[in-house]
Amino acid sequence: MHIEKINNLDKEFQEDASSVSSLKELEEIRIKYFSRSGLLSQLFDDLKNVSKEDKPVLGKSLNELRNKLSAQFDKIKVDLESNEKKTVHKIDLTLPGIPKQIGSKHILTQTLDQIKEIFKGIGFSVFEGPEIESDYNNFEALNFPEDHPARDMQDTFFLSKKFLLRTHTSPVQIRVMEKYKPPIRAIMPGKCYRNEAVSARSYCMFHQVEGLLVDANVSFGDLKGTLTAFVHQMFDEQTRLRFRPSFFPFTEPSAEVDILCVICRGEGCRVCKRTGWLEILGSGMVHPAVFENVGYDTTRYTGFAFGMGVERIAMLKYGIDDLRKFFENDVRFLSQF
Ligand code: DAH
Repeated sequence: MHIEKINNLDKEFQEDASSVSSLKELEEIRIKYFSRSGLLSQLFDDLKNVSKEDKPVLGKSLNELRNKLSAQFDKIKVDLESNEKKTVHKIDLTLPGIPKQIGSKHILTQTLDQIKEIFKGIGFSVFEGPEIESDYNNFEALNFPEDHPARDMQDTFFLSKKFLLRTHTSPVQIRVMEKYKPPIRAIMPGKCYRNEAVSARSYCMFHQVEGLLVDANVSFGDLKGTLTAFVHQMFDEQTRLRFRPSFFPFTEPSAEVDILCVICRGEGCRVCKRTGWLEILGSGMVHPAVFENVGYDTTRYTGFAFGMGVERIAMLKYGIDDLRKFFENDVRFLSQF
């Protein structure tokens, strides 16, 4: 071996190193020069055949070359690695942005908002009451007889002998009347609970909006006018209503309100069970016994009340056929509204 061989290897390495532009190419260089059978190892092997006198000089040069080349190699490697990192993190300002997914109000909230807006527009205020109610407000003050089936354990989630999860929003009427004197014009939205088997048509929790108007000379005509105005705004002007005699302990007379089926417009279909009509709420003139319970003068005041199911209204308005869909939080359902 000759010193020239060592110098040539250096030259060759410098040439290869000057054109390397990726870590992949650098790996080829590592194999070519630094691996077990690489060019450097070969020169070290050749040292064995060198004469005793030349060995120290050649050995020293070869060691120096190896140190120099491996230092160079390491530096190139560090440079390339930091370059590659930079490429990965480089921001391309010309790319279109990734839009943020924005949620929307739940369809029940939207429906409730709309109901509130309509009633606010005709002078009603909004009140809320607690979901945990006394038996007194939920039943007794509303003129439910002691043995009324609605008090049955099957319908009501009792928390104790005296307290329960309200089964309707009507007890908020009692709270409002105990606090304020007539005239009263209020709606009272909120959650209600009933111990019912969960199905497409019933759920253990649902929403109602209660309505109450109390003043001198309030008539059933006022109730009809108010609810007609509501239905015309909630659905459309063409939606006809009918008042069907019914019974509630806290109203007399009582009526359930049906609207002409929004699907078949009265022709008769599956949704309206071939009747052409859909029930949307219960209503009536406030029973004098209720006024007595809250200390209102029954000779001076009359009033009307009503209660509607928010889920029911939303189902009819948007053609939703299963109550459970409201509470499953499936975005494929929710994002449609
Ligand atoms: N609270 C009744 C229910 O849950 C609905 C109702 C009917 C409310 C007549 C009223 C009313 O205010 O006057 O079935």
